[in-house]
Amino acid sequence: MRLGLGTGSTVAHFLRHLGARVACGDLVDIVGVPTSIRTEQAARALGIPLGTLGELGSLDLTVDGADEVDPALNLIKGLGGALLREKMVAQASDRFVVIVDDAKLVSRLGTRAPVPVEVVTFECESHMRWFEALGAEPKVRRDEAGDAYLTDNGHLVVDCHFVKGVPDPLELESRLSGRAGVVESGLFLDMADEVVVAGAGGVRRMTRRGG
Ligand code: A5P
Repeated sequence: MRLGLGTGSTVAHFLRHLGARVACGDLVDIVGVPTSIRTEQAARALGIPLGTLGELGSLDLTVDGADEVDPALNLIKGLGGALLREKMVAQASDRFVVIVDDAKLVSRLGTRAPVPVEVVTFECESHMRWFEALGAEPKVRRDEAGDAYLTDNGHLVVDCHFVKGVPDPLELESRLSGRAGVVESGLFLDMADEVVVAGAGGVRRMTRRGG
């Protein structure tokens, strides 16, 4: 199985379990494509064989976390900064399964988390008024030392906060994807096939209609 490996604290548990099943010989013929340097290092340490999208072409399944999930299984991702690689890997997968805890479920995207937008470093400030015109309060992400946060791809992230959530995620995604200098957004619309939700009452699965 060709497997996309997501990024984040939830996926870290998945990797641990996957690594254990590979180590005991339970799972053979598995190759993973990591969505971040962090995940690549963790997977290597766990002995999970790795490949690239270039080598493998397409993937059977990607498992990743999310920052928000709406009732239609649209997602916000990227608080961990890996949104671009995560979207590329999810897009190359036949199935995309998301694992979250129930605190990530929202009725409208953007109510709990900002929409992360990866932008090139060149003239980053030039986007700020444009983001505001879209209804967002944009903030360039900073690391703990207060320096501009850089993704694995050497880009900046602008976290776009929407006070009442994102009114029309499809429209926002289309505006963002048409803007030169914007590399990718953390809106993952119509991509997840299944969301596995853990809560105090146990684990349940949400499946996309037709998925
Ligand atoms: C990484 O860029 C993100 O998209 C993560 O998948 C998402 O933030 C979920 O992370 P946690 O599992 O750490 O909440």
